[in-house]
Amino acid sequence: MLATTRAISLVGLSGHLIDVEADIGNGVPGFTLLGLPDAALSEARDRVRSAIINSSAQWPNKRITLALSPAALPKRGSAFDCAIALSLLAAAEEITLERLGEAVVLGELTLDGRIKSVPGILPALRAASLHGVKQAIIPSDNYQEGSLVSGIEILHFRHLREVITWLQGGAYSPSDLRSAQRAEPDSAPSDFSDIAGQERAKAALEIGAVGGHHIAMVGPPGVGKSMLAARIPSILPTLDDRDALDVTSLHSIAGKISAGSSAPLITTPPFVAPHHTITRAGLIGGGATSISPGACSLAHRGILFLDEAPEIARPVIESLREPMELGEITLTRLGRSATFPARFTLVLASNPCPCGWAIGKAKRCTCSSLASRRYREKLSGPILDRIDLRIELEPLSQGDLLRSGESSAEIRARVSRARERSSARFRAHPWSMNSEIPAAALRTEFAPDSRALRILYRALDAEEITVRGLHRIQRVAWSIADLAGEPSPSENSIEQALALHLRERL
Ligand SMILES: Nc1ncnc2c1ncn2[C@@H]1O[C@H](COP(=O)(O)OP(=O)(O)O)[C@@H](O)[C@H]1O
Ligand SMILES: [Mg+2]
Ligand SMILES: [Zn+2]
Repeated sequence: MLATTRAISLVGLSGHLIDVEADIGNGVPGFTLLGLPDAALSEARDRVRSAIINSSAQWPNKRITLALSPAALPKRGSAFDCAIALSLLAAAEEITLERLGEAVVLGELTLDGRIKSVPGILPALRAASLHGVKQAIIPSDNYQEGSLVSGIEILHFRHLREVITWLQGGAYSPSDLRSAQRAEPDSAPSDFSDIAGQERAKAALEIGAVGGHHIAMVGPPGVGKSMLAARIPSILPTLDDRDALDVTSLHSIAGKISAGSSAPLITTPPFVAPHHTITRAGLIGGGATSISPGACSLAHRGILFLDEAPEIARPVIESLREPMELGEITLTRLGRSATFPARFTLVLASNPCPCGWAIGKAKRCTCSSLASRRYREKLSGPILDRIDLRIELEPLSQGDLLRSGESSAEIRARVSRARERSSARFRAHPWSMNSEIPAAALRTEFAPDSRALRILYRALDAEEITVRGLHRIQRVAWSIADLAGEPSPSENSIEQALALHLRERL
């Protein structure tokens, strides 16, 4: 007897329909699994057998052949357990698959037959929906995440026994969803008003927030670099529906959405701050058994903050060139490749020198000029080349400490208005932020007027900037113009963008 169920295999963010076919024949009892299974999948046999027995069903003691097709597609992880169990039971004529119809089945089985949540439910169901699938069977702990996908009916179960009962004609009576897990309330919500002084830095971060420009902050220890960076998401507009689904999908694949989460959709731009000991795989993605997204993809549509950037190994930080150029990263392992979106804003923080005190009135720096130069050279040139805004921070004065700053909400309101201007301007174009304006468009449709342009050409002639720098300055100038409500960058906006580019070279 032959029976087939369907599941989804993820490659990057794309999903492919997989047929799980079970064939039970006479002959020497045994179990063969065909179709490129990875290690976790081979273990599926033991889990499925034990789960079936613990669901009061019969394990067919016959010659079992399971084929996952198309064979050439990689199939990772344990999400196929449920589909395997059901096709097997159907082939053994323990159940019929009538009620299942064309549904996809996703879920890992525990030895005692419980259905465990799996990573990647959101992208898997988005893909299923694109393939015209109308119904899905998923773990109860993934229900909230799965129901973010519209146009697909979702049935959720906690135990294989419940699925079997339903397929045998019983009522569908979903078990209660676990009581909503509340995120730990922040002890103190991070707000820009927490930060005294540093007005120039705040203004630059506001410009960066409008256009998605990459930022470097240099300053002695304890002046607020980490504080400022962590608060950038609080001045960014919330993600639109599509970006929220993409970001949540990436976090889902990486297993960062907790099982049973009651509000899994990520609507705030993510803030990802890996330690400087991060590896290349940690930063851009990779993995031993399957390809998973790295920090740069988890920061998609948000902030990738690299604190103490000079401490990061050069080949590691330089692996960001591809995602910074393309807005996505393609990873290849054992001849297979997967692509993940990675359109993040890079924020670097660094001390000015090894001791940290080359900036400030007190001139406390004790480093030799050679040591300072070596330290600065540790920051990779190709990455610094892609930085739009350079911010130097000085120790606070007493006066700064008394001054309370604007709240994040006030700044975010200005950023949102400026963003609306830019996205209206780019309505007919495939990009949406000033940092994404292609170089060709900066020479034509989005070129500044001739007087403003003359300022840039003068800097170019004086070899103060490169052509690449010129484009970066123009993009920043558009963000300054959008904040000021100018129809196109004025001379003043260009001057300001030039200063932010030149000033405080790292
Ligand atoms: N501008 C500031 N306003 C208020 N507190 C500050 C400021 N700068 C530093 N601090 C205080 O100093 C601590 C260290 O700041 P941090 O952001 O980690 O500095 P950095 O990253 O530049 O070394 C913060 O936790 C905060 O208590
Ligand atoms: Mg810090
Ligand atoms: Zn020093």
